[in-house]
Amino acid sequence: MKTSIQTNGLSIGYHDHLLFDNLNVSIPRGEISVFVGSNGCGKSTLLRSIARLLKPTNGSVLLEGKDVQRMSSREVAKKMGILPQSPISPEGLTVHDLVKQGRYPHQSWLNRWSQEDTEKVEAAMKATRVDELRDRPVDELSGGQRQRAWIAMTLAQDTDIILLDEPTTYLDMTHQIEILDLLFELNEQDGRTIIMVLHDINLASRYAHNIIAIKDGAVFNQGTPESIINCELVRSVFGMECQVATDPIFGTPHCIPFGKGRCVVPKVNEAISGA
Ligand SMILES: Nc1ncnc2c1ncn2[C@@H]1O[C@H](COP(=O)(O)OP(=O)(O)O)[C@@H](O)[C@H]1O
Ligand SMILES: [Mg+2]
Repeated sequence: MKTSIQTNGLSIGYHDHLLFDNLNVSIPRGEISVFVGSNGCGKSTLLRSIARLLKPTNGSVLLEGKDVQRMSSREVAKKMGILPQSPISPEGLTVHDLVKQGRYPHQSWLNRWSQEDTEKVEAAMKATRVDELRDRPVDELSGGQRQRAWIAMTLAQDTDIILLDEPTTYLDMTHQIEILDLLFELNEQDGRTIIMVLHDINLASRYAHNIIAIKDGAVFNQGTPESIINCELVRSVFGMECQVATDPIFGTPHCIPFGKGRCVVPKVNEAISGA
């Protein structure tokens, strides 16, 4: 496995409260990796520390073997782009202006806006289908359109590694699939490393090559969805009883929660009645 990012004895947290203590995790290059775990377990914190937005208390994050804390912001931004959870754009900022911001790491006083910058911005808007929304203020768009505009900004940054924190939150099913398909294509066609947090374990299983399940400040398990997603993992990580079936279309693990609901089959599964 070629590693793109590695945490090396990483300890991170807020104030005196450590969320992760001595965390060692390797994220493969050229694959889609997804962090899963219950609310508040620290997924966003971990993603932000990988992106150098949070300084570790101890240990380091290595990007292609280099400590991100020893790299300049510009150097990091040329290698990885991050879409945070629920980003907020300045009032009135247009889609075009937002996407152009993705090019800032590539600029300097010597190297002003270039033809290449224009091309990357146009390509990013096209790929995410926001080119027709270019003059619309981002804060006036629907949830799905807004999310696409932010992804376009991250794409315009043209990095090999793209980090996204719950990019499908607030989107309806159609738009969730649209966003995940787009990320899948970016991985398949350009070999980009995609690292994201998803709360839907079934979608995570369908799109991820590699799932990293987080629990109690540690990696509970990591591997292909087929090899790690089972009812023991779901019970331990999410505290939920379920049956893990096979997705009838994709063959990937599909988690069916127990709990209450209308049951329209004659006999309730023994396991459910016993739960
Ligand atoms: N800026 C912050 N300051 C203090 N505590 C925080 C901050 N951000 C998150 N936390 C706390 O850290 C824990 C992990 O949060 P987070 O990384 O957002 O979890 P997740 O993304 O897995 O839901 C939570 O208990 C949360 O309240
Ligand atoms: Mg989060």
